[in-house]
Amino acid sequence: MKPWSVDVAEARFRCLEVAAERRTPSLAEDVERGFAARPRSLPPKYFYDAAGSALFEAICRTREYYPSRAEAGLLERYADAIVEAAAPAHILEFGSGSSRKTRYLLDACERRDRHVQYWPFDVCEAMLFEAGGGLIQRYPWLRVNALRGDYLAGLAHLPRFRGAVLYAFLGGTVGNFAPAASRAFIREIAKLMRPGDCLLLGADRVKAPELIEAAYNDAEGVTARFNLNLLNVLNRELGADFDTTGFEHRAFYNRTARQIEMYLLSRRDQKVRVPALNRNYPFARGEAMLTEISRKFDAEALEALVSEAGLRIRRHFEGGEQLFSLVLAER
Ligand code: SAH
Ligand code: AVI
Repeated sequence: MKPWSVDVAEARFRCLEVAAERRTPSLAEDVERGFAARPRSLPPKYFYDAAGSALFEAICRTREYYPSRAEAGLLERYADAIVEAAAPAHILEFGSGSSRKTRYLLDACERRDRHVQYWPFDVCEAMLFEAGGGLIQRYPWLRVNALRGDYLAGLAHLPRFRGAVLYAFLGGTVGNFAPAASRAFIREIAKLMRPGDCLLLGADRVKAPELIEAAYNDAEGVTARFNLNLLNVLNRELGADFDTTGFEHRAFYNRTARQIEMYLLSRRDQKVRVPALNRNYPFARGEAMLTEISRKFDAEALEALVSEAGLRIRRHFEGGEQLFSLVLAER
């Protein structure tokens, strides 16, 4: 892992590039493979360019998107208990985004004079800088070591820490992985953990389908813009000529699989050029491309996910309405 940006603001913020442990497909390879399948599909990590990350933040502010508020409520209520139990010297957060909710943990650290170092790990460089800048202003004692990289490329090159680490994977992002991939990822985190380290995992719960569906079909159309922004990423990165007005957002709750499935639907017969692949792709009217799954868990499934990785659950915070869960686990 090598630092790739200059230190700023009294060296309390720096950004490091995490070297890949294993090769992951490039965007062009993911498009080639995903567009050959039926339905066509793409991995969700490509949503998060600077615009996509800002749109995700806007989703969190919509009336309908309950997961973020529900998780924030749990963190506000239980951050002291979490910090007390984990007693961390470092907090490393996977898919940290704006780190907004992490502030509850940092506030709890501050109340105890526990001057942790924070390691946000995200694929979106713009968001790491924005979030990190805000955090060092808010907490004069805090060192932020931003880690830029793809957590799916392996965790072997993360720093070796001295002192207890609280690993956090919040937001319900674990639900964006297919079942086997989520088990593999939690196992990979568990392998990093030494005695005394903890994992704080956030997951969205199974609940009334209407509530879930509304969260992914907000009235203002922010989720639709987030979904369609994926086409802007393909246009910019691969020189493709997707017409964003030629596609529409569709999200529904698959009750059998207990997951939201988010699609982009072609509004008409059309052909899209992808120069980086030297290919044209026909899209039939009504054809759907799968852009994201978002799985919902019951308590048993969530606890099984964590235990199967060889972790012991110390606390399960779920609140009265059981909209969302936070599980604190150790090796
Ligand atoms: N944890 C935050 C953000 C959730 S959005 C919250 O709860 O609000 C998902 C975040 O994961 C985004 O910031 C995105 O950039 C990041 N992300 C998605 N796939 C990733 C990957 N493969 N590697 C690293 N970060 C990823
Ligand atoms: C990041 N992730 C947990 C969000 C979710 O709810 O699955 C992404 C998202 N997609 C549409 N709205 C929010």
